[in-house]
Amino acid sequence: MSRVALVTGGTRGIGAAISMALKDAGYTVAANYAGNDEAAKEFSHVTGIRTFKWSVADYDACEEGIRQVEAELGPVEVLVNNAGITRDAPFHKMSRQQWKEVIDTNLSGLFNMTHPIWAGMRERKFGRIISISSINGQKGQFGQANYSAAKAGDLGFTKALAQEGARAGITVNAICPGYIATEMVMAVPEKVRESIIATIPVGRLGEPEDIARCVVFLASDQAGFITGATITANGGQYLT
Ligand code: CAA
Repeated sequence: MSRVALVTGGTRGIGAAISMALKDAGYTVAANYAGNDEAAKEFSHVTGIRTFKWSVADYDACEEGIRQVEAELGPVEVLVNNAGITRDAPFHKMSRQQWKEVIDTNLSGLFNMTHPIWAGMRERKFGRIISISSINGQKGQFGQANYSAAKAGDLGFTKALAQEGARAGITVNAICPGYIATEMVMAVPEKVRESIIATIPVGRLGEPEDIARCVVFLASDQAGFITGATITANGGQYLT
């Protein structure tokens, strides 16, 4: 029987590429999404991947959603925490709401999704938690005090949990994508985006598949000795 992989924000952007790559690698994939029914329906129609709707910012909804996925597909053995949002603004203009929405989704979302799945992984002595952080959690970004704080927090979460999961056969890793050609990056004003691309040594935005390939590797049995790691895929834009 194939392993079950759950990908949050798994119907669009980087998440869609991850869902498809895991399916191609033989996993039974559940793609979670929060709001865009139209995109989810189209994604499911094209790929045949099951979609499940709830917000990762809501703990109770995560518990219920995971229960439903596991009842229909089996225990989740690979969790990809990919769902993320931006609410960019210079700090002097940033509202409490913009701060809270980003922290609730991009940081607390990792707790909300991983916590209900953790006990089962410990019992089965196998698990893969892969969280999509960001270059901007590593280097900080003008206009993203909320996002950079959350994404840096994702790395701390990963390193702490890796130590707790190690003896139970659970690896916990993070990937830091640079600027990838998705709707999120295309929403950055064109002039700003052009100036960012000029700082990427490979001279272009990344592709969602660049990140999906990293996920497939970290999910595999062959990656069992890699835990607490941060894999950087940013075209050389920021060297850690
Ligand atoms: N460094 C220094 N100054 C900067 C700057 C930077 N990187 N970017 C903008 N500024 C300055 C501008 O020059 C301008 O200065 P003046 O007022 O002196 O002209 C000022 O900041 C902008 O002020 P505004 O009041 O016009 O700002 P705004 O309300 O329009 O907001 C912004 C600007 C939202 C920060 C906008 O510049 C922006 O969207 N920046 C991009 C942020 C970004 O990279 N987001 C990443 C999104 S993709 C993603 O998050 C995925 C991932 O993981 C990589």
